Amino acid sequence: MIPGFEYHPEYLSRKEQENLLGEIREMIKTNPLFQPSMPKTGKPFSVAMTSFGSHGWVSDKAGGYRYQSSHPVTKRSWLPIPEKLLSIWSDLTGYPELPECCLLNYYKDEKAKMGLHRDQDEQDFNAPVLSISLGDSALFRLGGLKRKGPTTSTKLNSGDIVILGGEARNAYHGIDHILYGSSQLLKNGGRINLTLRRVTRS
Ligand code: SIN
Ligand code: FE2
Repeated sequence: MIPGFEYHPEYLSRKEQENLLGEIREMIKTNPLFQPSMPKTGKPFSVAMTSFGSHGWVSDKAGGYRYQSSHPVTKRSWLPIPEKLLSIWSDLTGYPELPECCLLNYYKDEKAKMGLHRDQDEQDFNAPVLSISLGDSALFRLGGLKRKGPTTSTKLNSGDIVILGGEARNAYHGIDHILYGSSQLLKNGGRINLTLRRVTRS
C-alpha cells in the first residue's frame, strides 16, 4: 500500500455517527445537494454533492472541476464546516491549519460510484485529505501515482475514517460500488462520504 494511507476503522461510535448525520440533515435544508456533471460532456455524476466551508467543489459542462465560494444553485455562501469535523481533522492529522472544504458525496444506491481519480484541484498538496464514511459500506479502491498499476481494495464501513497524506495524497482512488442496504444509519439506505481538504496554499 502506498505510504501515507491511513485507515482508522470504527473511529466514530454509532451515537457520534447519528449526531453528525442529524447535523448534516439540518444543513442540507439550506445548503442542498446538487447534481454535478462532467466537464466537456456534461454527463451527470452518479453521486449528488454539496460542500461546507469557505471553498466548495463543483463541476459542470461549462466550467469544469473547480472550487468556488458559493453554492451553484442557491448562489449563497456554503455553510461553515461543523465543529465536530474540525476537531476530528485536528486530532487525526495534526495539520497546523484547518480544512477549507468539506465535500459531501451522496451515493444513493448501487448504481452510484466514483471512478478512479486524483484530488488535484487544490493548491496545497502538503495537507492530507481526510475522508469519513457514513451509512452503507463501500469498496474503496486505492492505486498509486499512475493511473495504470496495481490497486488495493478496502471495505469502508459507517464510522470509518481514511486519510490520504504524504505520497498517498496524490494517489489514484475511487469507489467501485456501495453495498446497498448494509447499514441502517440512513433511513433510505445509501452512503454519505465527507472529505475534508485544504484548498489554498498555507
Ligand atoms: C472522493 O474521492 O471524493 C470520495 C471517496 C469516497 O466516497 O470515499
Ligand atoms: Fe477523491
